[in-house]
Amino acid sequence: MNGFTEKNGILHVDNVPLPEIARLAGTPAYVYSASSIRAQYEALKSAFEKKLPADRQPLLCYACKANSNIGILKLLKTLGGGLEIVSEGELYRGLEAGFKGEKIISTSFGKNEAEVRACMDADIRQFNVEAWEELEQINKIAAEKGKKANVLFRLNPNVSGGGHAKISTGRKDHKFGNTEDKIAEMYRRAAGMKHVNPVGISVHIGSQVTTVESFRPAYENVAALVKRLRAEKLTVERLDIGGGFPIAYDSSSTLLDLDAFAQWVAEIILPLDTEIQLEPGRYMVGNAGVLLTETLYVKETDARKFLVLDAAMNDLIRPTLYEAYHGIRPVVTNAGRNTVSYDVVGPICESGDTFAKERPLTEIRKGELVVIESAGAYGFSMASNYNSRPLPPEILVDGDKIAVIRKRQTLSDLIRGESLPDWLD
Ligand code: LLP
Repeated sequence: MNGFTEKNGILHVDNVPLPEIARLAGTPAYVYSASSIRAQYEALKSAFEKKLPADRQPLLCYACKANSNIGILKLLKTLGGGLEIVSEGELYRGLEAGFKGEKIISTSFGKNEAEVRACMDADIRQFNVEAWEELEQINKIAAEKGKKANVLFRLNPNVSGGGHAKISTGRKDHKFGNTEDKIAEMYRRAAGMKHVNPVGISVHIGSQVTTVESFRPAYENVAALVKRLRAEKLTVERLDIGGGFPIAYDSSSTLLDLDAFAQWVAEIILPLDTEIQLEPGRYMVGNAGVLLTETLYVKETDARKFLVLDAAMNDLIRPTLYEAYHGIRPVVTNAGRNTVSYDVVGPICESGDTFAKERPLTEIRKGELVVIESAGAYGFSMASNYNSRPLPPEILVDGDKIAVIRKRQTLSDLIRGESLPDWLD
């Protein structure tokens, strides 16, 4: 994993040994490598620099649902990209991190009124629209505020993509996007509305798209729709070709060949002569983070050997929610020990609180540190307080520098906002 390397038998994040982070912040803790995030951003950017002319480079709008800590957002902002948001909360975070409205795009599925108002006040770059009533609401709020909002319409290209049924979004039985006919109709009607400006089309076929060839037909469908709209004299000047770019969770993962991907964009999207935007989330941060955890116990039953960690499904829900594979390794190399098959579990009172089943690992003992890898995306951002477990801290390391970008929650944080009914003694 980029940014996480073993030196003298100890796993480091950038130049810092992970046991030092555990001493500083305790466990469980999310630990991120700034150098790794930068490298991912630059890899995507330079793939396009090779294939597209300088004046046609895409705007990389980081999908901050993957990891929305304002420290991470600030790092990505300094790299020059934009931001994709799906809620008023994500807008708030983006603005706090210093993003300007002109680089923020809203793609949320069911935009509520407060969110649309807040986006309008921030003069965001565009709203990606899912439904006719949503468009009417945007038009109405823009009218009240004396503004004209840029809107894009999300195409459902009826293409399979996404590493798991729950994160696949591009087929016609999914709730996302609209058919070409429906978009043509909405686009026409929008062109006649006073407070929206239809500027283009968006598409997003899913997340962790391991069938990377699926991007190509999705983009071809976008191109066909652009031609159809233009034949009706409608203006299409911006295309948002989504996110979903996969990362390696294990050595057999199918990775996106960035050069081939940029080549598809050069062949299919570039000739349409529009601005181009992307919405990568996981790709930017997924491999740049680990969940650092300590072994509480090793419990043996007749059937299994359980490695009981101090992290649980409330900290990282992906394995149980999506049957997702995450690498697991000891922080200090256990050379010379035997390989043991473990069920790696957390302390929560559900059998679903399992990170891995029958995972062969060199023997690990009570008190030893372990990392769960590739946890930088959809890790902390999906964490909860289930079982009244305080949320873990987040630590960002850049070379030798260490920053606690979120403190561990305290017990009093757990009940903040709750109150005792005054009619109970
Ligand atoms: N754009 C739109 C409209 C999206 O819905 C998403 C993700 C993205 C961009 C970013 O996708 P990415 O590049 O990160 O794949 N919690 C799941 C992933 C859900 C993704 C939802 N939408 C997981 O842990 O795998």
